[in-house]
Amino acid sequence: MEISVHNIEFSYNGAPVLKNVRCEIGTGDFMAVVGPNGSGKSTLIKCMNGILRPRKGTVYISSENIREKTLREIAKKMAYVPQNKAGDSPVSVFDSVLLGRKPYINWKPSQSDIDITTNVIARLKLDHIAMKDINKLSGGQQQNVFIARALAQQPGILLLDEPTSNLDLKHTVRIMDTLKNLCKQGLTVIVALHDINLAMRYASRIMMLKEGEIYACGGREIVTEERLERLYDIKVRLIKNNGCFHVIPESSIENQD
Ligand SMILES: Nc1ncnc2c1ncn2[C@@H]1O[C@H](COP(=O)(O)OP(=O)(O)OP(=O)(O)O)[C@@H](O)[C@H]1O
Ligand SMILES: [Mg+2]
Repeated sequence: MEISVHNIEFSYNGAPVLKNVRCEIGTGDFMAVVGPNGSGKSTLIKCMNGILRPRKGTVYISSENIREKTLREIAKKMAYVPQNKAGDSPVSVFDSVLLGRKPYINWKPSQSDIDITTNVIARLKLDHIAMKDINKLSGGQQQNVFIARALAQQPGILLLDEPTSNLDLKHTVRIMDTLKNLCKQGLTVIVALHDINLAMRYASRIMMLKEGEIYACGGREIVTEERLERLYDIKVRLIKNNGCFHVIPESSIENQD
C-alpha cells in the first residue's frame, strides 16, 4: 500500500513545526525518518496517521484522502506504534495484542481474530508472557507487545516511532528483521529512528528532517559525512566495513587518552 504526503504544514499553537513536507512512499518501501530531537519526526508520523491535522497539505493512502476516512477505516490500512505509550489498564499481553483486531471486530472476536493474535504473539516470541499483565513487563517487553498489536491490525502501512528505543541488541535485530521481512511481503514501513546505523542497515529509503523541513530524502547514498555533520551539528566519520556503513560521531574524550 502506498502513502503520499502532499506539501504538509503543521503548527502547534501557531509555532510552525513541519514546513512543506512532501514524499511518496511505495508499497514494500522501508523508510527511516531521521533527524535531531525536535526536528518533527513524531509530528510527521502523527500527521500521516491522521492523529494530527496539518494546517495545509494532504495525506493520501492508496490515492485516498485520509481526511475522508473514519478512524476505523484508517486503522484497517495503517497501524501506528507511538513513541511514548500511555500506561494501559491491567490487561494481559494476549488481550492487548487482540486489541489490534478492534477495527475488524463488531461485538466479539472471531476465531480468525484469535488465530491472527496467536500467530503474531508466536512470531514475536511473546508466548511465554502471553498471560502476563502488560503493566508488569519491562519497557522493552512492552514495546514488543505494542509492535505485536500493530501487526495484529494487519495493516498495509506500518508507522513506528522509535520502536527500538527500549530494546536490547537481540530484540532490536529481531524487530528490525521482522519488519524487513514484512516489507518483502508488501508491507510499507515508515519508522522514526535515532540510530542512523540501523536506518542505513535496514531502510531502503532515508528521509532526513531538519527543523521541520526535508533536508534530504533518497536511498542510502544520501547519507554522507557532510550531510550528517550539517544535520546533527557534530563531526562524524562514515566507515564502510563488510559492505555495511557505520557512522561514528566524534567524541571529545577520544582525544584525551
Ligand atoms: N503537543 C505539543 N505541543 C506543542 N509543541 C509540541 C508538541 N509536540 C511537539 N512539539 C514541538 O514540536 C517540535 C517537533 O516535535 P517532535 O516531537 O515532532 O520532534 P521529534 O523529531 O519527534 O523529536 P524526538 O527526536 O525528540 O522524538 C518540537 O519543537 C516540539 O517541542
Ligand atoms: Mg519523536
